Amino acid sequence: MDKHTIAGTTRRTFLMGLPVAGLMGTSLAATALDRRNLTPLPQLTDQLLWRAVREEFRGSLNITAMNAANMSPPCAGARAALEAATTDIDRDPSFENRAKYQQRHEATRAALAELIGAALDEIAITRNTSEGNNLIVQGLALGPGDEIVLWEENHRSNELSWEVRAQREGFKIIRVATPKQPESAEDLIAPFREAIGPSTRLVSFSHVSNSSGTELPAAALCKLTADAGALSMIDGAQTVGAMALDVKALGCDFMTCSGQKWMCGPREAGMLYVRKDRQELLNPLIVSYPLAGGDTGARAFEMLGQRDDGAIDALGQAAALHLAIGPSRVEARVRSLTDLLMAEIRHKAPSARFLTPENPAYRLGVVVTAVTHGESGAAQARAYEQFAVSGSAFPGALRLCPHIYNDEADIERAAAAMATAIAPA
Ligand SMILES: Cc1ncc(COP(=O)(O)O)c(C=O)c1O
Repeated sequence: MDKHTIAGTTRRTFLMGLPVAGLMGTSLAATALDRRNLTPLPQLTDQLLWRAVREEFRGSLNITAMNAANMSPPCAGARAALEAATTDIDRDPSFENRAKYQQRHEATRAALAELIGAALDEIAITRNTSEGNNLIVQGLALGPGDEIVLWEENHRSNELSWEVRAQREGFKIIRVATPKQPESAEDLIAPFREAIGPSTRLVSFSHVSNSSGTELPAAALCKLTADAGALSMIDGAQTVGAMALDVKALGCDFMTCSGQKWMCGPREAGMLYVRKDRQELLNPLIVSYPLAGGDTGARAFEMLGQRDDGAIDALGQAAALHLAIGPSRVEARVRSLTDLLMAEIRHKAPSARFLTPENPAYRLGVVVTAVTHGESGAAQARAYEQFAVSGSAFPGALRLCPHIYNDEADIERAAAAMATAIAPA
């Protein structure tokens, strides 16, 4: 039996609905929601599975979306849930009508917990990674003499946020730089080992860097941190929904993510994981009434007042899609599309220089290519206008992030767009 139910369908029945839906051009979510259509089917081949998954996004995509590190298109289940709840609540905003969403929020929490191997009480439903990160940054008791160790490649919400508080309260921040082309896990671990000391209270890093695509050996870093008696915080914005994760195996104390990136969920719905025995160390930033299921456990960190019930429901649908496909299968697909994209860019633009590790063991999903001629914003605009490929521009670089809604033809197009974008004008 499955452990939880998402909008009336179980993970198992959802999975059984996948191929039928995909191959017949019906939304997976619609099929999953309609138990009468379910047919038990054998394990799908990769080709059939990814075709079916792609169908999930067909209705929402006008471009070749390759920007998961920033924003993905939502899957059909998430879109349907958001639209249905918005219409429902707009038409009847009574307490009586909205009461049913309480139960659905707990179903979303259960799906998120299963996705990362956490307990139900360890999940707070936040609005995004920025909020989750700041709940940790602002919620821990810290003072002069304490040290916080941060990876140089952390996102601003996990870097500037610390800086602002440190200036106010006088604790110290130590930044760790890692090699751009690591040759071993030790290359990435050693700089952290050097930075962690007796005053270290917390070590925080992006699991995968949004600016280079470097994947850190998270379990080893969390162990190093725990051995030093400090807390570990993983910013999972670039890994939840892209990688098979188990917070217990990773050994982290906190993890954060957003729904609109690799999860293919809605905007303004995300997750914060707080290990059970660390919850008493965190002060909630906002104290109001509880979302669902009371204010016990990590729910104490999600008391943000009135929420968008549809977005939270949609986040549960997105998590259900990942569980239905299987997070390991999603990760394998993202890894293989990443490898293919880098190979195709290299093929079409032999002089291309990657800021992403060449070694596949230390990267996942995020491919960053140097722009050596002209301005990167203009290069990205060329990729969008001439090829309808969406990526991101950084100073001196362009980023592309393939995900489960992309196929090999998308990779080909994106590589052609990149080759054109980085060529001398
Ligand atoms: C590693 C990382 N952390 C946090 C964020 C912030 O995400 P959000 O804007 O959804 O809060 C991002 C956004 O790109 C990110 O890449």
